[in-house]
Amino acid sequence: MTLLIKNGIAVNPGDKTEREADILIRDGMIADIQPSIAAEADHVIDAAGAYVMPGFIDMHVHLRDPGLTYKEDIATGGAAALHGGFTTIVAMPNTKPVADCPEVIEYVKKRAAEVTKAHVLQVGSVTRGMLGKELSDIRGMARAGCICISEDGKSVMDAGLYREAMRIAAEENMTVLAHCEDINMVCGGVLNADAKSEAMGMPGITNAVEDVIVARDILLAKETGARLHLCHCSTKDSVEMVRLAKENGIPVTAEVCPHHFAMSSEEIDGDDANYKMNPPLRTREDVEALQRGLSTDIMDVIATDHAPHSAEEKAQGIRKAPFGIVGLETAAALAYTSLVKPGLLTVMQMAEKMSYNPAKILGLNKGVIEIGAPADLTVFDAKREWVVDPEEFFSKGRNTPFAGRELSGKVIAAIVDGEVAYAE
Ligand code: DOR
Repeated sequence: MTLLIKNGIAVNPGDKTEREADILIRDGMIADIQPSIAAEADHVIDAAGAYVMPGFIDMHVHLRDPGLTYKEDIATGGAAALHGGFTTIVAMPNTKPVADCPEVIEYVKKRAAEVTKAHVLQVGSVTRGMLGKELSDIRGMARAGCICISEDGKSVMDAGLYREAMRIAAEENMTVLAHCEDINMVCGGVLNADAKSEAMGMPGITNAVEDVIVARDILLAKETGARLHLCHCSTKDSVEMVRLAKENGIPVTAEVCPHHFAMSSEEIDGDDANYKMNPPLRTREDVEALQRGLSTDIMDVIATDHAPHSAEEKAQGIRKAPFGIVGLETAAALAYTSLVKPGLLTVMQMAEKMSYNPAKILGLNKGVIEIGAPADLTVFDAKREWVVDPEEFFSKGRNTPFAGRELSGKVIAAIVDGEVAYAE
């Protein structure tokens, strides 16, 4: 089986080169990269003028499978991922039942192989049932192929228990994905604590709700040596603490979600729960600090926190609806439109933050365009302009605050293991 991608601009974070090239793929691997390749192939993609990047890797996705499949399932989540250019996705454990044991890890692995071409990596929860009381079978899950633990959706508030989990993660060479939120400080907040939420009469969530746990978790990484990855950072002080931690050699990396760098709380348009996610949309000042953090490479990763919910759930208004928005199918275009186009990020940095860095953090042999590398590739046409229409999503979730937003850059193909898994 051969595939030839012609006339694209190959962006390779492995050696930081960006060049016009044809890419020949044979048996799932990149076989050749040349200015022009004349070889016959079973399948040819004309990428004329589009970027060919290493397949995007989303370190933060909710697939809702098992148990909450009215919101999303592995098939629809996988399809949404490929539609958005993500060839690998990392699924959070807040499913029903919680992914806290080898059986659930095995189920997702088996199901994903049956229903999607996307690579799906299931995260194990830190505590049993995500109840924060006793540790999950972390070692058992590691033996089942699980490479990350997380309590995503909340923090483990017992620092002693969390430290023990981090010690085990360090021994098992697992990455700890941290949702940072001191639950005792939330006090019913639903939007960021600022002039907007005040004007709307909505209870606010302060920056410190996130920041105190970011600080704690960095200190626990320092003590345990665990590889800590901070999920969905949303505050200016989170960025500052990541900078300090890195300067001090602490093993920490951090992600920013598109909604946090592309939208501030000022843009919330009425009592519409599509603007409700956790952490919340923050102030302009925070948004600019996150953008600078990405631009200066303090912040390593762009990940979506894809959190599908049903239309009925989201119709309840900001006070009652669950937190979360979908993200897989708008992330690349938001990164391009809000960061690359205004000159805050280079295309190379976009490829680093959406593929190369996640691969490194997760220890995957991916994220580069090199002969002999696995052929997971995303073809992204930066010249394409489009308007977000949630009805066109492959996800079951339509919950996005970006409906109607004009964006630049569209994924036109996603290749997984040398096969065209999505093409426009
Ligand atoms: O907004 C969010 N939704 N944030 C999270 O951390 C969890 C997620 C969900 O599972 O819906």
